[in-house]
Amino acid sequence: MKMRASVLREIGAEMPYAKSVPLAIEEVELDPPGPGEMLVKIIGAGLCHSDLSVINGSRPRPLPVVLGHEGAGEVVEVGPGIRDIKAGDPVVFQFSASCGRCIRCLEGRPQICEAHAVARAKGDLMGGGKRLKDSTGAPINHQTGVSCFAEYAVVDRGSVVKIDSDIPLETAAIFGCAVMTGVGAALNAARVAPGDKVAVIGLGGVGFSAMLGAILGGAAQVIAVDINPAKLGLARQLGAHHTIDAREPDHVQQIKDLTGGGVDVSLEGAGVIPALKTGYDILKTGGQLVTVGLSPQGADFPIPAADLVSREIAVRGSYMGSCVPVRDIPKYLEAFRQGRLPVDRLIGEHVGFDGVNAGFDKLVSGEAVRQILTP
Ligand code: APR
Ligand code: ZN
Ligand code: ZN
Repeated sequence: MKMRASVLREIGAEMPYAKSVPLAIEEVELDPPGPGEMLVKIIGAGLCHSDLSVINGSRPRPLPVVLGHEGAGEVVEVGPGIRDIKAGDPVVFQFSASCGRCIRCLEGRPQICEAHAVARAKGDLMGGGKRLKDSTGAPINHQTGVSCFAEYAVVDRGSVVKIDSDIPLETAAIFGCAVMTGVGAALNAARVAPGDKVAVIGLGGVGFSAMLGAILGGAAQVIAVDINPAKLGLARQLGAHHTIDAREPDHVQQIKDLTGGGVDVSLEGAGVIPALKTGYDILKTGGQLVTVGLSPQGADFPIPAADLVSREIAVRGSYMGSCVPVRDIPKYLEAFRQGRLPVDRLIGEHVGFDGVNAGFDKLVSGEAVRQILTP
């Protein structure tokens, strides 16, 4: 079938993107779903920093590509072999489909499935190859098996989680990346416990979700840190007890003073080395840094080696919030329903295909936390 999609053909577009137009609206060809796949009509797709990292080249991916890895939609048609999902079902995409057979999957860590990592690097679906072509018949890559900056997507069964129909899909969209990554980092990776002192460094969709996850987990003191004052204002509205501007030279000392010596948990959601450094420097003895923001490829983060032992410091990375999507997305949706995880407040404007490039400019400037493409 033919459909419209937002296609990235080359990296390195100059900002503002609204002028340089890195993502072009194209009419593309989408193959029907193969065995174990399904066709989904996209209702909402979030503009995430990880898409931006592909656009600006800090996260290399095969091009051309239809970006978009955070979204939700309605199943239109299922391919052979799918019995547990049918046309009309609402689904949230998850950007790390898993094979269920590799060692990582069998260890209970499907978010770092080895088979998916191979397919992702090639821009393929899990079943092999691509279902997208341009008007000349040349193949177009998928992004992490999702590619939801489009009217429709053909995806692997494992790339979706079926959800209940009561939550608007434009809202459900952000559960696939921002919410899973952030809330999961707080609850699965850091295991925030009641009474913990928690700092969140970098307040985008991911960082704010981590902050709301820490609050849900019972953190007693929540400190929100960013370099953009507008983000700090929103953090206070969302329940942060303190906000700190990381541009201030003494920001580390300010946090130590506020917490009586440092935090139990730092959650880093900026994806830059200075934010990681802040997260590390504010830890109490025995504290733990969980990094979620993906720093630029090749960048190093120096750690005072003796600290790890003498102060029993823990540093860990968390991919996709270390989530098992079919387990965690319904949990987080239920917390949202109950009003205990108000992630809808992170959603700003809805944009059409023609607003996507300008939307990424707003993500960079910090004017927006999450904008939703409604194709
Ligand atoms: N200290 C604190 N905050 C910082 C710093 C810093 N040194 N540098 C940048 N920030 C803030 C920005 O001001 C912004 O508010 O980090 C925030 C990042 O937010 P977004 O750009 O909206 O990013 P988001 O979509 O949440 O993704 C965050 O997770 O998935 C990864 O690739 C993604 O690395 C990115 C990260
Ligand atoms: Zn696997
Ligand atoms: Zn994302």
